[in-house]
Amino acid sequence: APARNTGSGALTFKSIPPNRLDTLVVPNGYDHSVVLRWGDPVVPDAPAFDLHRQTAARQSKQFGYNNDYVGVLPLDRQGRRALLVVNHEYTNEDLMFPGFTTFDAMTVEQVRVAMAAHGMSVVEIERVDGTGEWQVVTKGRRPYNRRVTAHNTRFDVTGPAAGSPWLKTAADQRGKVVIGTLNNCAGGMTPWGTILSGEENFNQYFVGGDAVADDVKPKLARYGISTTARYPSGSRKWERADERFDLAKHPNEANRFGWIVEIDPFDPESRPRKHTALGRFKHEGANVIVAGDGRVVAYMGDDERFDYLYKFVSDKKYRRGDSWAARQHNLSLLESGTLYVAKLEQTSAAEIDGSGRLPADGAFDGRGRWIKLVSGTRSFVPGMTAAEVLVFTRLAADTVGATKMDRPEDVEPSLRTGKVYVALTNNSERGAAGRPPADEANPRNSNRHGQILELVEDGNDNTSDTFAWSLPIVCGDPADPSTYFGGYDKTKVSPISCPDNVAFDAAGNLWISTDGNALGSNDGLFATAVEGPERGHLKQFLTVPIGAETCGPFITGDNRSVFVAVQHPGELTGASVENPASNWPDGDIAKPGVVVAWRLDGGPIGS
Ligand code: FEO
Ligand code: CA
Ligand code: CA
Ligand code: CA
Repeated sequence: APARNTGSGALTFKSIPPNRLDTLVVPNGYDHSVVLRWGDPVVPDAPAFDLHRQTAARQSKQFGYNNDYVGVLPLDRQGRRALLVVNHEYTNEDLMFPGFTTFDAMTVEQVRVAMAAHGMSVVEIERVDGTGEWQVVTKGRRPYNRRVTAHNTRFDVTGPAAGSPWLKTAADQRGKVVIGTLNNCAGGMTPWGTILSGEENFNQYFVGGDAVADDVKPKLARYGISTTARYPSGSRKWERADERFDLAKHPNEANRFGWIVEIDPFDPESRPRKHTALGRFKHEGANVIVAGDGRVVAYMGDDERFDYLYKFVSDKKYRRGDSWAARQHNLSLLESGTLYVAKLEQTSAAEIDGSGRLPADGAFDGRGRWIKLVSGTRSFVPGMTAAEVLVFTRLAADTVGATKMDRPEDVEPSLRTGKVYVALTNNSERGAAGRPPADEANPRNSNRHGQILELVEDGNDNTSDTFAWSLPIVCGDPADPSTYFGGYDKTKVSPISCPDNVAFDAAGNLWISTDGNALGSNDGLFATAVEGPERGHLKQFLTVPIGAETCGPFITGDNRSVFVAVQHPGELTGASVENPASNWPDGDIAKPGVVVAWRLDGGPIGS
């Protein structure tokens, strides 16, 4: 393995001030470069990008749109080559197609381009001259490079709901093979070297929910699919290119999305899989840790206002080592296990008034327990079969009294401590009429800026049924009394709003990226210690261009490179190809892209 390069772990870089610059900003002493942007060649015979000649066939070989999750898997022991794996969550047609007016006016070929711009990319990258910079390998066979798309990649369905009647369609009468993946948001890297990817807002691709049977309508509505309008507002009209997106004709097709996907980037011929044992919701992502007894635990968020936090515990145990047999075994770990949803108790319930004022005991904190929903083929939810719990997990969780959270985005355990960190991004409807009021874990009504939750499993055992939780950071402008930064001196921390993705560096610091900064400045990337006297000393490391959110992030194991995905630069109302709101990254039309940043002197990231 590459030499560890963690340094002291102290975050001594000089914070970036909030700004509205149409550029990517890194601290003094750092540099950055664009590794890949929308349209760059991925597979070796990919054509160069041409905005005016784009076709689905070309896009299927090029880097997709709106990069979100970023993972880097080493290809050698020297740390010189690696596989970059990236999610392409969604498309901005108005920023992709010259002359775009409406979804209805798009050509069918343009719809197919959009489908091909969704999915994932696997791309071989190499380190530049021993520095922290990385670039795409452009020569040679590049056998791992591949594109996964919404319209031409087959997925095997695994787990107890595979083959269930709810997954069967005219094209797949066994209910075991799905074409495509949709709205892949965040993800995670498994200890066995695969990538997990969350299918999030899949609802927006379907029409015709008004025409399904009445008893099916609540099962669609709970996932945000309109059951009253044939064409809900904002419909992407994909059914014009592929009728399976019309639920009037294929009512089960929507049930085939909303899963955690696993892809093995080291086996380019392998079919990615959708794991039903991890439940179906608007999956932000999934992150795995090996528990003390060897079982693996995946933590997951359902990104919707008032939705839930979940975990999956495998039946089987992780096998160490690089042998083929061990890897084959580990590839099956997410196919069977137990799915839980979180209920959070509170220590200071009476004091919570929705203002975000810290309780007298000095902490937003409490205990919690994991409520069992399903284990293997056994359901713990009255009136629902195991397959129904897995396909309609939101409805199952509703019935057991799980805690309604402020949009759980990325959920990631620290592999160093086993503690779990949750980005709760915001919740404009908290405390609104008819909506749940603030509670200690979601302590502000009309929550614009979000919070970070830390979860410590009892006995430091990630398979535990019970845990303690607290809020180390309540986001916003530190001058705002409703914010909290671990008790750290608030005059010394950076303002932060709308945490979305979390990651850890090799020293165990928590890195947080944001989406939708409600303080009015550009989104960015932040870092803080979570242990010791520097806990809560949050500093801004990077900002992204106008209209973009910051995704990824990923810090390499040698602590010398930080990757971020710049998603939807220039995504502002009224922007277009002809009238871009951002010119990042090339001074031309805006393009989403993946960036790497590094210290010029080769020192550890964050120092
Ligand atoms: Fe795609 Fe929840 O962010
Ligand atoms: Ca308390
Ligand atoms: Ca996200
Ligand atoms: Ca986001």
